[in-house]
Amino acid sequence: MSSDDPVIYLDHAATTPVDPDVFRAMAPYFTAGFGNPSSIYQVGQAARSALDDARAKISRVLGCHPSEIVFTSGATESNNLALKGVAWAARLRSPDGPPPHIVTTAIEHHAVLHAAEALERQGFTVSYVGSDAQGVVDPGEVAGAIRPETCLIAVMYANNEVGSIQPVAEICRAGRANGIPVHTDAVQAAGALSLNVDGIGVDLLALSAHKFYGPKGVGLLYVRKGTPIWFQQHGGGQESGRRGGTENVPLIVGMAEALIRADANREHANALARAMRDQLWARIVGEISQVTLNGPDLDGPRLPNNLNVSLPGLQGETALLSLDMAGVAASAGSACTTGNSEPSHVLRAMGLSEDACRASLRFTVGRLNTAEQIDDAADALVETVNRMALLSGAR
Ligand SMILES: Cc1ncc(COP(=O)(O)O)c(C=O)c1O
Repeated sequence: MSSDDPVIYLDHAATTPVDPDVFRAMAPYFTAGFGNPSSIYQVGQAARSALDDARAKISRVLGCHPSEIVFTSGATESNNLALKGVAWAARLRSPDGPPPHIVTTAIEHHAVLHAAEALERQGFTVSYVGSDAQGVVDPGEVAGAIRPETCLIAVMYANNEVGSIQPVAEICRAGRANGIPVHTDAVQAAGALSLNVDGIGVDLLALSAHKFYGPKGVGLLYVRKGTPIWFQQHGGGQESGRRGGTENVPLIVGMAEALIRADANREHANALARAMRDQLWARIVGEISQVTLNGPDLDGPRLPNNLNVSLPGLQGETALLSLDMAGVAASAGSACTTGNSEPSHVLRAMGLSEDACRASLRFTVGRLNTAEQIDDAADALVETVNRMALLSGAR
């Protein structure tokens, strides 16, 4: 994808195109550098050194020791590993004690929520803390949900639907004061917020490379040294015995290259995103009546690339199809629940009615968008809304 692509892509929270420099860095490891990092001969050792180099680069962005990074297939696996790994470590430590308890939130991605529900089916207990009307969790409520048997707190860094940034550092202080590890799903924060694990204070952190211009199918879990966790994937002893399976060297190389670029470019990218996102909002609010903004104020605790709106009387999914015909790619709710027409659990947790949820659209801008594209997308949206209103007789 390039800036002169006919598609106006405004769905960067769903995925991003691979940065061409990242693609170039990965390419040799599919061909000449194909070795298995566990092999002792030169081709294998070259792959091993690429893997070590990638781990070192990522550890500099996270401000952690390289050995604290476990490569995974993406954030779904990382989140599952964090929740199930810490819960089962607690269970195995005291099999006769009360079932270990997890505190999480109602606005997490399904990779966390469904992992928590699976643990409940295995006898663990979970508290789901709600959010305020802006999609922000109260750290006091999280601390208030802690019990003597709590083994983990899991709160996302930034929400994928409304871009709300959670007070994770404050939650980590509560976790630390109670001796409870804190996990954060930082998928949407990469490239926008600092990922320094000591700055945030987290013990576990999940990332997925395709959200920051890296390849799909690769991610990581940061695990602070000393965090009790039961690693579940047994095999050839890779990742220091923490995740068996031959490492996907090209994808891991790509993730490292993408992460250092995204992190170094954060300020610039945020300024560009904010300008385009605000331009889109100005057009929408100026030309469409009764529109409401979902999530924090644009200058509040919100990712700079996220705009989530409800357009009364409009069916989000129908509007998406109409926008698609006009060459604009956006989202109604989370892309990861495509095919599921249930109203968004995040918007519901924020107190929106079912109708307002179904009338919601999410636009997430990115690196390759231009001001001209934003204007064209706004034109297409205004036209869609007017046409749908005419058809329904509402406007
Ligand atoms: C906040 C959040 N967590 C986890 C995931 C899952 O990532 P993946 O599908 O790459 O495993 C996503 C994907 O949309 C996400 O937005």
